Amino acid sequence: MTILITGGTGKTGGRVAHRLDALGLPVRAVGRHSEPRFDWYDSSTWEGAVTGCTSAYVTFQPDIGLPGAGAILGAFARQAVALGCTRLVLLSGRGEDSSRQAEAAFIAAGAEWTVLRSAFFFQNFTEAFWAEEVAAGSLTMVESTVGEPFVDADDLADVAVATLLDPGHVGRIHELTGPRLITFRDIADEISSAGGRAVAFRQLPVPAYVDTLVSAGWSEEDATGLAYLFAEVLDGRNARLESGVSDVLGREARDYRDFARHALAPTAHHG
Ligand SMILES: NC(=O)c1ccc[n+]([C@@H]2O[C@H](COP(=O)([O-])OP(=O)(O)OC[C@H]3O[C@@H](n4cnc5c(N)ncnc54)[C@H](OP(=O)(O)O)[C@@H]3O)[C@@H](O)[C@H]2O)c1
Repeated sequence: MTILITGGTGKTGGRVAHRLDALGLPVRAVGRHSEPRFDWYDSSTWEGAVTGCTSAYVTFQPDIGLPGAGAILGAFARQAVALGCTRLVLLSGRGEDSSRQAEAAFIAAGAEWTVLRSAFFFQNFTEAFWAEEVAAGSLTMVESTVGEPFVDADDLADVAVATLLDPGHVGRIHELTGPRLITFRDIADEISSAGGRAVAFRQLPVPAYVDTLVSAGWSEEDATGLAYLFAEVLDGRNARLESGVSDVLGREARDYRDFARHALAPTAHHG
């Protein structure tokens, strides 16, 4: 009955593992530093991670929309099914053609699958990606004035647990968004007012944005892929709300302002 969590210490994997553990369910949370070790780019590590698990919450790193993700996810899902890990819940992104292809490869493996197609997370600004820059007082993004329906990774984790435990979600795609469209400029403003210190927003053309990612340590290939993915999904295609959170949980998704007030208040505990 053990449930495998890939990206087990990540923004969503960590939350899913914590919830399942609190329910008294056996969990195996894996990554490149766990025992057993699991690395998406070293398929020799997959069997040891999967063997003995019957279901899995699957997050791909660094991003399901990057080239090559579909081939890796398809191969992983086939191996998981062959090893008896047949119930697979995949975290995906909204609106990206490349993510659609990765989902298709995953679905074709023959598992009892569910796909969670998620908007960008609130936690990208507090736990990852932009967190360091935001803490230093700025937020940089590709040029866009389009709103994104940012979602709380805690809502997503609640949905992941519900779908893992209820076979009624097999064969379904849930689109997960928060309750409101927010631009990156709005995010900088909301963080400024909730945190009591200014976060300056700046937007850059894609090539200049790639340069900033490369200077932050990304490879040229991944930086280019990610910058174009951002530009692709911020063209308006994702600027709509979906009901996945309330469909699965029977309650509304949390709003960013509520999250920011709790997570970013000057006296808030960051843990
Ligand atoms: N961020 C968003 O707004 C957003 C929105 C929609 C969808 N997504 C999708 O969500 C996925 C990421 O999920 P997440 O944000 O929950 O995870 P995350 O926080 O990005 O992942 C970190 C976890 O992944 C592990 N990890 C890193 N590189 C790995 C590798 N090469 N092989 C195996 N494990 C590795 C890390 O552990 P170690 O460092 O110890 O290996 C850690 O446990 C991506 O596919 C992304 O496209 C993200």
